Amino acid sequence: MEIVDEKFVRSNAIPAPWERDNRDVAYAETGRQALGFVAEQLWNDGYRTLLVPEFLCDSMLAPFLALHPWIVVPVAVDIHFAMDLGDLEFIASQVDGPFVALMALYFGRLPDDHYRAAVHSVQCSGGVVIDDETHRLFAPGDAGADISIASLRKLLPVADGAYIGGRFARMAAESQFEEGPHGRWAAMELKSRYFAGHASARSVREAFSIANKSLEQIGMTFRVSARTVATVGRLNYTDLAAARSENSRVLQRGLTGAPGLRIINPIESVSIPSHIVIDGVDAQVAQQALSVRGVYCSIHWPPSELLAAKRPWPRSCLSVPIDHRYNNDDMTRVAQVIREVWSS
Ligand SMILES: Cc1ncc(COP(=O)(O)O)c(C=O)c1O
Repeated sequence: MEIVDEKFVRSNAIPAPWERDNRDVAYAETGRQALGFVAEQLWNDGYRTLLVPEFLCDSMLAPFLALHPWIVVPVAVDIHFAMDLGDLEFIASQVDGPFVALMALYFGRLPDDHYRAAVHSVQCSGGVVIDDETHRLFAPGDAGADISIASLRKLLPVADGAYIGGRFARMAAESQFEEGPHGRWAAMELKSRYFAGHASARSVREAFSIANKSLEQIGMTFRVSARTVATVGRLNYTDLAAARSENSRVLQRGLTGAPGLRIINPIESVSIPSHIVIDGVDAQVAQQALSVRGVYCSIHWPPSELLAAKRPWPRSCLSVPIDHRYNNDDMTRVAQVIREVWSS
């Protein structure tokens, strides 16, 4: 059964955005496995200190801490959840000895001159920069980082997969990673059958819960599934990205002027949004109220259990999906439902 609408699939194979310009790239089964592979090499090379954004998904940090006692230093983020580059450069200049900086442009932002200058400055202070491109894999690279990684399943219609670019990519490509169970494809197929009226919502929930649990375990690096490799070689990234931009514009238009609602990543500030992030009310309460009305939003992210953050965790943001599965009418309806919830 096809998971992605045919109109987003090309008839001929073309390199994915992160494979262009002859970038060295290797694949693993998940983003955390990609980070775990890189973390292990860096630890073996003598790195012990890790700078991370103070707002992050624990799955970015867990692969480091699962195997070794890294000294983790949080770097401040601003009101748009972008790493405070001044704080980053200051901390980098204070670290004694070599260190690793895990950086990320969240929600589709792209590197600008300030970002590139900060990457360079961190490198000049003895840092190795890993850029987590998960939220900008339609327009990756261009930051001057030493290593890039991204999880594929967050923005693309694939069940698993992650890439490692730059330093260690060749080593990863030559490693004979074991075949994983790759059970999430079956869950995705079941979901398609559910939409066609041939499976229950409960069976889909259970299938995803089991498949995600097995995929999210940390410790070993598995091979990406052959089906993901085949899929990423055929996707029409231009049209997928255009659908995201168009959906974001419609959603943003529908939300403009909603009392008490702030958009964290307005479309003008990002080229290809991963989500539209809205702020203003208790995220858990809003998430529940929206799901009752059929709008399902994620919380990016629940408070970290691994990082001792310097400041209170943001608890009033929700990420609204804007991907290729939706169209203008869907976005208009989603905006209407969000307005209702925000004003209730
Ligand atoms: C920014 C970011 N990087 C990495 C990961 C880890 O990816 P995966 O779920 O494929 O292990 C996530 C997961 O949510 C993420 O949001």
